[in-house]
Amino acid sequence: MTMQRRKLGWADVTPKALYLNRRAFISGAAGVAMAGPALAGSLGAAKSALSTDAKPNTLDEIMGYSNYYEFGYDKEDPARYASALTIDPWSVEVDGLVERPGRYDLAEILRGKALEERIYRLRCVEAWSMVVPWVGFELSAFLAQVGVQPGAKYVAFKTLVRPEEMRGQRGRGLDWPYREGLRLDEAMHPLTILASGLYDEPLPKGNGAPLRLVVPWKYGFKSIKAIVKMTLTGSQPDNTWRMQQASEYGFYANVNPGVDHPRWSQATERRIGAGLFGNRQPTQLFNGYAEEVAGLYAGMDLAKNY
Ligand code: MTE
Repeated sequence: MTMQRRKLGWADVTPKALYLNRRAFISGAAGVAMAGPALAGSLGAAKSALSTDAKPNTLDEIMGYSNYYEFGYDKEDPARYASALTIDPWSVEVDGLVERPGRYDLAEILRGKALEERIYRLRCVEAWSMVVPWVGFELSAFLAQVGVQPGAKYVAFKTLVRPEEMRGQRGRGLDWPYREGLRLDEAMHPLTILASGLYDEPLPKGNGAPLRLVVPWKYGFKSIKAIVKMTLTGSQPDNTWRMQQASEYGFYANVNPGVDHPRWSQATERRIGAGLFGNRQPTQLFNGYAEEVAGLYAGMDLAKNY
């Protein structure tokens, strides 16, 4: 987020055609579905009362404006380059304070989980925002599967390191692997999901396929993509952006209009896709989820614990 940017234009892009094709495929698939009994997309995710009624951004906007430093620093880089990532087979190693440590393959993780559509606001610490129709299941369901031991207080997450496929990992960049963490009560909250889909289709690679975290009341950098490891631990884990610049990015990263980033205001945000004029809107405390999550931080100084 503070790293040097090199500017490329759409002229440099070949994979855009690929994802536009995918979009054509999706509308084609929807057309086929309309002829049959089910109107749902391929994942058939159930609606959720936890969804916002705000209008979701388009798939193009969600795929085309993205942060995924493993593939580069430009917002278009994930859509351009993430197709190189192999996501099958995929497994997540679980260790630390758990009853059933081990390597869980994706099918094992998804088995028995009720997939839901969760339409959430996404607020990046860079002061832009979107509305995204994720498909996933509550992280608490997976934590129940692995069995959390009583001493566990935090969950640490890691993304994979694979420079052969992740071009952003080849040169200088962040301290890989990308790392994130949540307090256990945050991880167990019903709003916290592991997402495996978007718009009722499998998650695009640039948005974190095959499995990523989504924590809607926190700045987007907490929502780690392409998870390969989870560790249950008694102490607060590292997180990448805090390691990079602790005076600017904290562990909690709760969306808060009253606590500015040292270099910019967080009072307002730019909604991607809202057009040139209607696009700045007030930032909401906890990104609009205060009613659900403020209690997690009762008595905490949110300016100190940013
Ligand atoms: N996860 C990994 N592994 N690498 C990243 O660079 N960027 C984060 C987060 N997860 C990032 C990541 C940031 S800054 C944001 S805003 C969100 O992903 C963006 O998610 P999206 O691209 O699906 O909108």
